[in-house]
Amino acid sequence: MSAIHGLATRALRLFDPEDAHRLAVAALGAGLGPRPRPELQPRLKTTLAGLDLPNPVGLAAGFDKDARVFAPLLTAGFGFIECGTATPLPQAGNPRPRLFRLTADRAVINRLGFNNRGLEAFAARLSRPRGTGVVGANIGANKDSPDRIGDYVTGLRRLWDVADYFTINVSSPNTPGLRELQSAGALADLLGRIAETRRALGPRGPIFLKVAPDLDGAGIEAVTDAAVAFGIDGLVVGNTTLSRPAGLLSRARDEAGGLSGAPLTALSTRVLRAFHEASAGRLVLIGVGGIASGADAYARIRAGAAAVQFYSAMVYEGPSLVTRIRAELSARLAADGFRSVAEAIGAR
Ligand code: FNR
Repeated sequence: MSAIHGLATRALRLFDPEDAHRLAVAALGAGLGPRPRPELQPRLKTTLAGLDLPNPVGLAAGFDKDARVFAPLLTAGFGFIECGTATPLPQAGNPRPRLFRLTADRAVINRLGFNNRGLEAFAARLSRPRGTGVVGANIGANKDSPDRIGDYVTGLRRLWDVADYFTINVSSPNTPGLRELQSAGALADLLGRIAETRRALGPRGPIFLKVAPDLDGAGIEAVTDAAVAFGIDGLVVGNTTLSRPAGLLSRARDEAGGLSGAPLTALSTRVLRAFHEASAGRLVLIGVGGIASGADAYARIRAGAAAVQFYSAMVYEGPSLVTRIRAELSARLAADGFRSVAEAIGAR
């Protein structure tokens, strides 16, 4: 990691986590983000459901909620950026404090509750002329919406021409009842409406569904079957967990909300592998949860992911971490004789 960005990241940890996040976004927006020399890592060039990526290491949703800083984040070396979650109407989210560092555990708990400036502001930013680089839109529902499924349709329609891909987020634990959209009946209603909307809008980028790592075997089968049946391209596996793995050290471990970061690694890898088996090649998978190194990214690809994302590790190591993860991933692929990411997907 470059010394200056490492120092800045450590300094930011002196602030309340939400203020630190705001400062980090402001710094990126002011052009102070990392600008690594472009590295030639031909082995990392890959495709994700038809999208061409320079590398398979993406930024997970929630960091750039309002689509303000995807350009400097692409410059920092991410292979793709997922902006959002955006809801149709602006929303304040839950009362602060609602974001907690579990430093000793290299983890985060958040109960932000989809704080965002709303779909119009989000769409306006994504509509500005932008360079190359894949930028996805993560779409959600307003907490007080009388028609949550309608909110996803509204999001998809508004963003159809301005985002490269779409993620239907039904797995945030911080909007009461949202995760119930993952149950078979509700999911069929939701995905039916999504499929109908997509048909009406015409060809465009892939649509992914973002799921919770807390699904059990039956839930994994049901979600897989519904996603395949309704033509969803892939799954983002997954969101934060409501579980609290044994051994957490930090006082904040008992805060309500979704846990992310290192303690999520084992669970999200296990659930990814289960989705890989259930989908048997019918869905593209994006692995997320506790990734903080090239070894983590590589393990996730071998568990079935075509690409990976991370967020929490950036809280501790800053955006330069992506450069290290890429270099390590490239070296591991080479060491095991893989010429491409695609060759390693699901390889035991
Ligand atoms: C998130 N995450 C998230 N996911 C999502 O789909 N929409 C969102 O708005 C947010 N917001 C959000 C805020 C904060 C502060 C965190 C830490 C996380 C979840 C995130 O995208 C990812 O799925 C999990 O955090 C697991 O990955 P990491 O953080 O362990 O790498």
